[in-house]
Amino acid sequence: MIGKLNHVGVATPSIEESWKLYVDVLGATSVTPKKALPEQGVWVSFVELPNAQIELIEPYGEASPIHGFLAKNPRGGQHHVCFEVPDIIAARDDMRAKGATVLGTGEPRIGAHGVPVIFLHPKDMGGVLIELMAEPVAYAAVHGAISHGAGAAH
Ligand code: CO
Repeated sequence: MIGKLNHVGVATPSIEESWKLYVDVLGATSVTPKKALPEQGVWVSFVELPNAQIELIEPYGEASPIHGFLAKNPRGGQHHVCFEVPDIIAARDDMRAKGATVLGTGEPRIGAHGVPVIFLHPKDMGGVLIELMAEPVAYAAVHGAISHGAGAAH
């Protein structure tokens, strides 16, 4: 059911510091500008790789959902992995039917890529926080061009 690996989410106390690692040390050639997503309580920047992205996420505001993660992992660390699925609602219902826990209300929300996403609790996923995201190409074909503008989230 899951398709392409879209990105690996990496929490960091400083996106600028992470750029030094991914660009200067590891040699990545492209990163997207740091963008605030206040509704989700994060700053994001994508490290562009040939086959996927690293989604750098830094806390934005006091209520950021990643403060807890950084409290346990002060230098940052791997936070989630994101797979594309053809139909986000079908995927959610399938995961629930198989006993997985969908975080929040379970209603997909628009993520940083401009398409709906859900998150699956790590307790049912081998300890990994898993994000499922509607395939961008398929979603755009039905819903029109994808906006990467403000209000999107990871
Ligand atoms: Co993500």
